[in-house]
Amino acid sequence: MRTRALTPLLVLALVLPVAGASAQQSSTIYPGLGSTAYDVQHYDLDLKWAAGTDSLDTGTRATITLRARTAIATFSLDLDRVLAVSHVRVDGVLAAKSRQGDKLVVDPAADLPAGSVHVVQVDYTGKPRSIEDPDGGTEGWLPTMGGGSIVLGEPRGSMTWFPNNNTPADKATFTISVDVPSGVQAVSNGRNTAVTPDGVWHWTVPEPMATYLATVAIGRYVRTTRAVDGIRYDSFVAEGQPSNTRALRMLPRVVRVLSDLFGPYPFADAGLIVDNPGVFYALELQNRPFYPSIASPSLVVHEMAHQWFGNSVTPRRWNDIWLNEGFATYAEWLWKARNGGPSTATTFRRVFANTTSWSPAPGKVTAKTLFDNVVYDRGAMTLQALRERIGTKAFFRVLRRWAADNKWGNVTTYAFKRLAEKVSGKQLDTLFRDWLYRERKPRGYV
Ligand code: ARG
Ligand code: ZN
Repeated sequence: MRTRALTPLLVLALVLPVAGASAQQSSTIYPGLGSTAYDVQHYDLDLKWAAGTDSLDTGTRATITLRARTAIATFSLDLDRVLAVSHVRVDGVLAAKSRQGDKLVVDPAADLPAGSVHVVQVDYTGKPRSIEDPDGGTEGWLPTMGGGSIVLGEPRGSMTWFPNNNTPADKATFTISVDVPSGVQAVSNGRNTAVTPDGVWHWTVPEPMATYLATVAIGRYVRTTRAVDGIRYDSFVAEGQPSNTRALRMLPRVVRVLSDLFGPYPFADAGLIVDNPGVFYALELQNRPFYPSIASPSLVVHEMAHQWFGNSVTPRRWNDIWLNEGFATYAEWLWKARNGGPSTATTFRRVFANTTSWSPAPGKVTAKTLFDNVVYDRGAMTLQALRERIGTKAFFRVLRRWAADNKWGNVTTYAFKRLAEKVSGKQLDTLFRDWLYRERKPRGYV
């Protein structure tokens, strides 16, 4: 790795392009989603599930506590156009509403002053659907083999089942209750606080969560509950699916190893959900990732690493998705190295040699290329390149401080580069630009 002294002028020239690409630019991926006019503090979701039609019945309500960031005359929430809204109330008073595509526009009786906090109630019904993303992925509300359904919401599927501020930049706590017929279970994020005799499942998520990580899984599951190292594990494997005993057994060990590497597990609850909604990817749903039929060891490591990187430390914009996928992939490399496999340096060189496509660069993905291999592989290679540049000790200090300083928060690539520079005392513009923003194979690193 080259090191050279930098003149102040050269430093300025190198800093600006990186800062421009990652710090100042607003999201170019799904620019229509979400709102910066307000900040949601809490979602309280009350779902009435109709088994026969797999739809949300009368009585379904989202109660949203939000803080106005500016003075607001009207504001909008993201909600799939197929869902019908009967009433919207702001602080208990009926508000005027209209629909514009997948936006629910609310016009409260009185304006909301900047900084004020309000409670917005949305009563809605309908049959939630799945959506196709430009990257070819299917997400949203997905019917399962067993006659139930599960929500996978990355990147934008949360609007298929509740009105929300559909951006990873606005995290909030949640309480979720789902009314289901007897014999049917309703699983969600966080902790199961109650199941009433008439079949209402109550869940609470005390740590902030991005809307894309929120879920509800309805069906018949084999449930496994235990507590290890002060963390509560509550897992659900759909009847008729492989029992996944190996994954269930290894979960606490994965969390222990990752805690060793990255610092304390950021949440009180953990677990897994296995089901078959006909998609072939896993998803790091907060606390309780989803796996399609089989939770392989590397997949479990990947999705649990996301609890630190993605779920607790969340990119402000989808453009910085490598902060999720590169880190989770690197955790797989670390796990392999710890369990008799090749070192991360060897994996890096193998992946580098086998990579044929160097475009798009991980920091330049679009909605179409959001989950391309580059985000995972070149993202992980970026971290190994950083490790080799600043040394193993400084590298893990960076990862641990990244997780600790930004716990439950939102981040940018620029902030990560700055932290790595601060901890290492090295100038890293060239490295980050080569690995994340240049549409060509990085030279001089292998
Ligand atoms: N974050 C998931 C994973 O890496 C992938 C989500 C895929 N979503 C999509 N729309 N393609 O495991
Ligand atoms: Zn991932």
